[in-house]
Amino acid sequence: MLADLKMPGALEALDDILHGVDSGALTAAEAVETLLNAQIQLRNNRRLQAAMRSSRLPAVKTLADFDFSFQPSIRREQVESLHELGFLERKENVILLGPPGVGKTHIAISLAIAAAQSGRRVYYGTLADLITGLEEAQAAGKLLQRMKVLTHPALLVVDEIGYLPVTRTGATLFFQMIARRYERASTVLTSNKPFEEWGEILGDEVMAAALIDRLLHHCHILSIRGNSYRMRHHTELWQQLHRESPSTSTPPRGGRKTRETPRG
Ligand SMILES: Nc1ncnc2c1ncn2[C@@H]1O[C@H](COP(=O)(O)OP(=O)(O)OP(=O)(O)O)[C@@H](O)[C@H]1O
Ligand SMILES: [Mg+2]
Repeated sequence: MLADLKMPGALEALDDILHGVDSGALTAAEAVETLLNAQIQLRNNRRLQAAMRSSRLPAVKTLADFDFSFQPSIRREQVESLHELGFLERKENVILLGPPGVGKTHIAISLAIAAAQSGRRVYYGTLADLITGLEEAQAAGKLLQRMKVLTHPALLVVDEIGYLPVTRTGATLFFQMIARRYERASTVLTSNKPFEEWGEILGDEVMAAALIDRLLHHCHILSIRGNSYRMRHHTELWQQLHRESPSTSTPPRGGRKTRETPRG
């Protein structure tokens, strides 16, 4: 019957589950739940694989991989509740602000993955890439199609607002795209720059103000303050050195001889 219903995930798990029931390890209710979970897992993985191909997501990052203890400025409950995806239903936006390496892209991707696993269409791009795509489409007379690609997804990630300069035309096209998505679908944006500097990034204060107005109307803002996760090993190394030589308050200078006997 599972084969007939096209439930290969459940079918594969069936023998183990029946064994678990026979040995008394699983109750009937647990067996049903495990069986259905096996199928849901398979379906979610397939959805994720399809989304990874079509959405241009650069990596797989999930909530489970995120170390909240490293980033105390993030409210765990807020991030977890966003992953329940109510904001998508309500067409709200999420804006992640903060310095390099604090996990903005990680959280943006994990929201996109959660959305893809729930069967929604998602799309990812850096601001620079999205604008290049729009400019190229405009030059080729295909702007409308491109706009549709970017306005259709239930979740669009616009990553890295603020790192690369954008052209005036590019900024105008970006504004049009966000205006089309406004109150129709959710956008997750990340930036290393506060809103006051977006006018400078987009080369137009008035347009930036109108853009921010639309984005913030229904929006969750996560402002992350903290250290770069990319640098964590360097911090540990520095602290380790510090612990081993408590008498020195500054890191060892270059050229200083160590006590360790050189090998070889
Ligand atoms: N709290 C964390 N727990 C686990 N991994 C993390 C955490 N924060 C960041 N990372 C990892 O560190 C790397 C950098 O994080 P991420 O790309 O999200 O930074 P970012 O805030 O987008 O930085 P940038 O502004 O430079 O793009 C990624 O590989 C990410 O998965
Ligand atoms: Mg990033």
